[in-house]
Amino acid sequence: MNFSLQKTALNDAHRPTIFPTADDAADAVADHLLATVKRDPKSVLGLATGQTPRRVYKRLVDAFLEGEVSFRDVETFNLDEYCGLAASHTDSFAAFMQRELFGLADFDPDSLNLIDGAAADLTAEAARYAALLRDSGGIDVQLLGLGANGHIGFNEPGSAHDSHVRIVDLSDETLSANQPSLTELRSVPSQAITLGIADILNAREIIMLATGPAKAAAVRRSLREKPSTDCPASLLRSHTNIHWYLDSAAAAELG
Ligand code: F6R
Repeated sequence: MNFSLQKTALNDAHRPTIFPTADDAADAVADHLLATVKRDPKSVLGLATGQTPRRVYKRLVDAFLEGEVSFRDVETFNLDEYCGLAASHTDSFAAFMQRELFGLADFDPDSLNLIDGAAADLTAEAARYAALLRDSGGIDVQLLGLGANGHIGFNEPGSAHDSHVRIVDLSDETLSANQPSLTELRSVPSQAITLGIADILNAREIIMLATGPAKAAAVRRSLREKPSTDCPASLLRSHTNIHWYLDSAAAAELG
């Protein structure tokens, strides 16, 4: 496959900011998002789940509780959801968002766009979410985490540059990586619905937060190697307004 940006050299947008600790990196991301919402209270935010953004969300909640910011007029789109899980299921990403962020600040429930993993027709659900995204005017700032295998959202290795919202099979690596986060389920659902790479690239701004040694190889492949569908996050190199926030452990292989 040919990509418009094949060089390994980075333009300024792809020069990561490296912090001593994961907490420092998360705090910087929180400050970035808070500045976004203060500048435009009607911002459309694309949000990720997982361990990495938990401190970011805590900082957003703290800022709300201190009266520093309101999320009343913000609209959100979550990146992905496990197939088969309703929002009421404790292991769903919808429940995660409620616990970590939405339920702790003044978000308008009508402005929180989530995928229904328990929809009777999941193909139709993916189409519904795609249409919602299309009609929303687009995501202003997309927050991403990074899979150790380079996935973004649940776009696993092999995902196409022009992929959109769809049902995907999760890789064995992702199933094992996510297993410890489960509280009720015995095993991670094998499929998910995710925004596609093209949907992510359509965001006007992207924030990637990657911390910890388990992400170091994926960070190197994303930022130093030729963009390839083998490492989906490397496809972010075609975006011109992206900010990589790393801790020193995740940046360890950048040299
Ligand atoms: C979550 C998501 C995933 C995670 C990634 C990293 O909504 O889309 O791409 O961002 O798997 O997960 P953590 O942060 O748990 O290491």
